[in-house]
Amino acid sequence: MITVAVTGALGRMGSLIIENIGDAPDMELVAAFDIRDIGMPVGTGASAGVAAGAGDVRVSDARKIDALLASTSPDVLIDFTIADAAVGNVRAAVENGVAIVLGTTGLEPYREEIAGIIAGDVPAVIAPNFSVGVNVFWKLLAEAAAYLSDWDVEIVEAHHRHKKDAPSGTAMRAADVISKALGGKELVYGREGLAPRGDEIGIHAIRGGDIIGDHLVLFAGDGERIEIKHQAHSRQAFAGGAIKAARWVMDAPSGIHGMEEVLGL
Ligand SMILES: NC(=O)c1ccc[n+]([C@@H]2O[C@H](COP(=O)([O-])OP(=O)(O)OC[C@H]3O[C@@H](n4cnc5c(N)ncnc54)[C@H](O)[C@@H]3O)[C@@H](O)[C@H]2O)c1
Repeated sequence: MITVAVTGALGRMGSLIIENIGDAPDMELVAAFDIRDIGMPVGTGASAGVAAGAGDVRVSDARKIDALLASTSPDVLIDFTIADAAVGNVRAAVENGVAIVLGTTGLEPYREEIAGIIAGDVPAVIAPNFSVGVNVFWKLLAEAAAYLSDWDVEIVEAHHRHKKDAPSGTAMRAADVISKALGGKELVYGREGLAPRGDEIGIHAIRGGDIIGDHLVLFAGDGERIEIKHQAHSRQAFAGGAIKAARWVMDAPSGIHGMEEVLGL
């Protein structure tokens, strides 16, 4: 049995991941952390939306994560919170020898710090997008870019009105993949006023309603264009991938891994 702790347990992703753990015959939820509704049984009252099947686990105060990871000894911590919080959660996991699945985005300012904390002490899967489709999408982008090196590239992403960071981690990874395939490109975020196009990748973020996650990459040449697009229909695309990663990370060597390794891409 793989024992799991979840941070951000009451969030959109955390609650779905707990539901998935409840449905998985080989997994058991042993701790759930958030900064609100402390003490509520997951799955009732104010934490409705958190699944049944989570046993009698209650929402624990994320500020006490160190002590609770020590007493519950999970095999793996799954974190979908916010970047500021994720750094502390990663530190607590490493100090307690707990493997990590980290899905929180907006990590760019903390990337070196997180790498330093993990430093080969525990296995971790860190991915800005855990969906199978998006990981294949990134591969297709690299291939297309290599054939279309003199075409213009624009990335447009759309997410729900509650998303805090922009552009999305998925769009940033798409830009990185394309830039690497083309030997390095400047990134330009949105355009306003006099903004003539240079030899750049343009990135645009749309926020509204309940859009789960759309990513469109436009390769535009003279007289034609190619659009490569991924749309998530439900958050299960990400939650299912995070569960796959949690199983995989149990046997992985220490250090940071990507979802492409989990999926064998
Ligand atoms: N990698 C992926 O595939 C993927 C997919 C979807 C969302 N995300 C990312 O996951 C994160 C969460 O997304 P969401 O839509 O579930 O957000 P959300 O706002 O619904 O949930 C975040 C939860 O974290 C809690 N939280 C805040 N600080 C905390 C702390 N210190 N310790 C524990 N919990 C804390 C909040 O109270 C909230 O319940 C975001 O960064 C989002 O971009 C990643």
